[in-house]
Amino acid sequence: MQAMDLCVNLAPCKPDGLFLSNPVMIASGTFGYDGYGRGLAPDAPLASLGAVLPKTFTRNPRLGNPEPRWFPASFREGLEAGETTLLNSVGLTNPGIEAAMAELAPQWVELDSNIVISIAGDTPEQWEEMASFTRGVKGFSAIELNLSCPNVDDGAMFSHHPRLTEAAVSGVRRQTDLPIWAKLSPNVPDITEVASTAVEAGCDALTISNTIPAMHVDVETGQAVLGTGYGGLSGPALRPIAMALVHKAAQAVDVPIIGVGGIMTGQHAAEFLMAGATAVQIGSANLADLNAPFRILAELEELLARWEVESVRQIIGATWWDTPPGSPD
Ligand SMILES: Cc1cc2nc3c(=O)[nH]c(=O)nc-3n(C[C@H](O)[C@H](O)[C@H](O)COP(=O)(O)O)c2cc1C
Repeated sequence: MQAMDLCVNLAPCKPDGLFLSNPVMIASGTFGYDGYGRGLAPDAPLASLGAVLPKTFTRNPRLGNPEPRWFPASFREGLEAGETTLLNSVGLTNPGIEAAMAELAPQWVELDSNIVISIAGDTPEQWEEMASFTRGVKGFSAIELNLSCPNVDDGAMFSHHPRLTEAAVSGVRRQTDLPIWAKLSPNVPDITEVASTAVEAGCDALTISNTIPAMHVDVETGQAVLGTGYGGLSGPALRPIAMALVHKAAQAVDVPIIGVGGIMTGQHAAEFLMAGATAVQIGSANLADLNAPFRILAELEELLARWEVESVRQIIGATWWDTPPGSPD
């Protein structure tokens, strides 16, 4: 039997494209327990995934938010208890972009996997400055702009404002020829407006979506459970919301969409692809089980084989078709 063609292009507008061996990636902030691979076995087959995104880097190092930063205290226990509302308020704990380029990038070169970095600036000028630090550095193949982190209290959320989105994307565009992915917030009245703005400003793909601002109160203490009060909701409850946004954005723009939100199985990944995503990222599922992205990829491949499609690209946008994959003509 012929091997399934899982290859996807995440920068079709670039002459060389950005070809991933398959559409399954690890979402930023969820690569191991610290966002930079802690907890993963040294021989974890990272190269078998389409890409891996380390946690977002900011201009300067950040210690992150006050504890508690997670609810439930463990994503694994929450998911085992059937919990769908997973909240976090990590606050972009990271070593800063300069340390990342000097110390982490050389390690990624050795990793034999496709790394995509994630960055977040506080001001339009800072996005461009951060991108300038990536010039000439090896070890990653694209830059995702986290325009949508809800946990940083010292700046507006860029993707809530088309004007700020335009400024951030065009600033980064001026500094790099690498593919740029713009990661958007789900919490906007009309995703198509900010999606179109990001594309016009020069991004090559959109990542949809980040978490939704949320809170949980412990009635015994009468207090919010997270140290910051509010956090970001991720996991299964986010899935239908993110999927609808992917579906809407895919009809509005011509660049690939990367679907993120509550993908726990290969079937969920296929749902996002059918809704119009070209690839997917795995977040909370990965924190509950570091093997999840590999399992999800295998499950997706099994589904595609069952539908007897030759390429994963055949199911992208299937919601616009008259017949489902695998149906007799
Ligand atoms: C603990 C945690 C930390 C996260 N940190 C980041 C981050 O640093 N940068 C980012 O762009 N997204 C971050 N995210 C958001 C995820 O990448 C993803 O967009 C979101 O969790 C939705 O996907 P999921 O439902 O599969 O978790 C984080 C999510 C979690 C749960």
